[in-house]
Amino acid sequence: MSDPGLRTILVSGGAGFIGSAFVMQMLASHSNLHIINVDALTYAGNLENLQSIENEPRHVFIHAEIQNTELMHRLCEQYDVEGIINIAAESHVDRSIQDASPFIDTNVQGTVSLLTVARDVKLKKFVQVSTDEVYGTLELDSKDLFTESTPLAPNSPYSASKASADMFVRAFHHTHDVPAVITRCSNNYGPRQFPEKLIPLMILNAMESKSLPVYGDGLNVRDWIHVNDHCDAIYRAYEHGTPGEVYNIGSENECNNLQIVKSILSILGKTEDLIQFVKDRPGHDQRYAIDASKAKKELGWMPRITFEHGLRETIEWYQNHPEWCEHVLSGKYRDYYSQQYHRER
Ligand code: NAD
Ligand code: TYD
Repeated sequence: MSDPGLRTILVSGGAGFIGSAFVMQMLASHSNLHIINVDALTYAGNLENLQSIENEPRHVFIHAEIQNTELMHRLCEQYDVEGIINIAAESHVDRSIQDASPFIDTNVQGTVSLLTVARDVKLKKFVQVSTDEVYGTLELDSKDLFTESTPLAPNSPYSASKASADMFVRAFHHTHDVPAVITRCSNNYGPRQFPEKLIPLMILNAMESKSLPVYGDGLNVRDWIHVNDHCDAIYRAYEHGTPGEVYNIGSENECNNLQIVKSILSILGKTEDLIQFVKDRPGHDQRYAIDASKAKKELGWMPRITFEHGLRETIEWYQNHPEWCEHVLSGKYRDYYSQQYHRER
């Protein structure tokens, strides 16, 4: 049972990169929020990300999978949850190329599970945190941007699973009146990102003077946004988004991978001979770029963190947290921290 003065939201995936940033940011900036944080603690989720709110009474951690519909239903009733923000996912394209099945389980089945609960408990809001990758790829030398009406054309098993989930969100809104909105954000960077994604992998390799594996010619373009700006947009979509609508989120910051890698090397004072061009990713999308004007106009959202500042601060975070890097890569932290949290299956 939660305090009657508080609003309770169920956030899934809150031990991962974006989810932990979201939970910490919301608890710090909204004193009336109570968060039920459901996370399966896969390789990408770790309780070390939530250390700073270990003793926060407005945060309850539940170790569970979102596909457990019965438990999700029970939690919504037990805590009088008003809405769900679905951040949990299998999130790495390269892993989805190796094996698509966990992506179907979590991203598709898990989303349908939470939508079913939202329908049955009659929640006030449901936010599906999706990705710009559902739109497929843009031409490298065009000036086109993804808008909310760009047709879905996912190219990787990851983006196919996210696009499928988005279609279920649309269907549950249309058929069952679930008050759901979808956000589609571009590539995030910031502290606590698992070092399999481009920026943290390159930072850690450069710090240790290991080679930096750049796929193909390194000219693929992504539209980078700081995780805290993304989290602000997610919250605004929850508060002000119109059910049935989609909001693109991006920071107008297109860079190719080689530019990113060179900036990291320069900030760390390392030489460019660490760059190693390796075999390209199969089906590698060329360019992502977002038109976020709808979110700016309708949600009153603006990105605030410049890439130059955000990248420096992110590099400093990794330099100052060697124990985090060691722990997430070894998985040793799990036994220790999970004993201190509520476990439920
Ligand atoms: P992440 O891989 O860092 O974290 C995912 C979290 O979900 C982990 O804590 C993991 O334990 C948890 N999880 C996985 N399967 C689960 C399950 N079945 N039940 C409960 N929890 C489960 O991912 P991220 O980068 O933080 O991405 C979060 C969301 O944002 C994803 O939905 C992703 O599609 C979306 N997104 C990410 C980016 C990006 O650049 N990282 C950009 C746009 C959208
Ligand atoms: P990634 O962080 O995996 O995000 P996404 O594929 O979802 O955009 O990759 C970002 C870009 O960096 C993408 O073009 C692939 C490229 N990349 C590399 O060149 N080398 C790497 O080791 C990784 C992980 C990614």
